[in-house]
Amino acid sequence: MQLIDNLAALRATITHWRRQGERIGFVPTMGNLHQGHLELVQQARRRCDRVVVSIFVNPLQFNNASDLIAYPRTLEQDCALLGELADAVFTPTPELMYPNGQQRQTRVSVPGIAEVLEGSLRPGHFDGVSTVVCKLFNLVQPDLACFGEKDYQQLALIRNMVSDLNMPIEIVGVPTVRANDGLALSSRNGYLTPAERHLAPELAATMNWLAEQISAGERDMTLLVNNGSDRLNSRGFTTDGIDIVDANTLQPLTDASRTAVILMAAFLGKARLIDNQVVFL
Ligand code: PAJ
Repeated sequence: MQLIDNLAALRATITHWRRQGERIGFVPTMGNLHQGHLELVQQARRRCDRVVVSIFVNPLQFNNASDLIAYPRTLEQDCALLGELADAVFTPTPELMYPNGQQRQTRVSVPGIAEVLEGSLRPGHFDGVSTVVCKLFNLVQPDLACFGEKDYQQLALIRNMVSDLNMPIEIVGVPTVRANDGLALSSRNGYLTPAERHLAPELAATMNWLAEQISAGERDMTLLVNNGSDRLNSRGFTTDGIDIVDANTLQPLTDASRTAVILMAAFLGKARLIDNQVVFL
């Protein structure tokens, strides 16, 4: 595996592969890799001749400076985990990605998706995501890119951007990888104390409990959201948002909706955990 930290080397490598007619897969990450990220890399590997992983903690998508500073950076461990699974790991600096500063960076914004739900709680976050992913796509020029279903709204955002801007890139959504007790793997799980880690699977358990009620015919979504929120808060979480919306549009459910998605966000100590589940109506 090749570690690349500058644009000239990245371009040279990509051009070389393209000349050989190789199909390039791409997995953008912010590092602190775990089995969830590795599953994305494996999916790309299965479908492509070459796989590029980027590791970049993108300042443009963080709402507060302390969260950005605290984000775990573990490059050596990440490279050891990737081993030969990736052909190249691209690790740009913020200066390389934003040479004119963040304020003067051209933005890519996906209306509708970026402002609702998680986007309304974290203003500017999704513009930061779509902008950096667009830039990374232009640098890596992949045929295919993998994103986790764990970040449901992010996956929808990227699918919309690629479609709206006619980017010739196949987007593959990869199901959420979980620990044995049901907790979705996340770099932020590292913020949990042992006691909180013990409680954490309750987020997925509450989500499953809501999904079962919808499958059994319950349609009072306000009631479900309130019940879910009460259950989490009584078990040590501080609920930051439960939404049950149309899985395709991320807008409120209508009579025409065929699938719903339950989107969960809750604080447990310092960690903000998210999860989601699609339910057929
Ligand atoms: P990051 O949080 O590092 O996640 C990188 C990719 O891994 C995302 O597509 C995310 O959905 C996926 N992922 C994380 N945990 C997962 C799990 N348990 N199962 C399956 N996939 C999982 O998401 C970002 O970085 C950034 O916003 C990024 C897209 C890189 C833009 O900066």
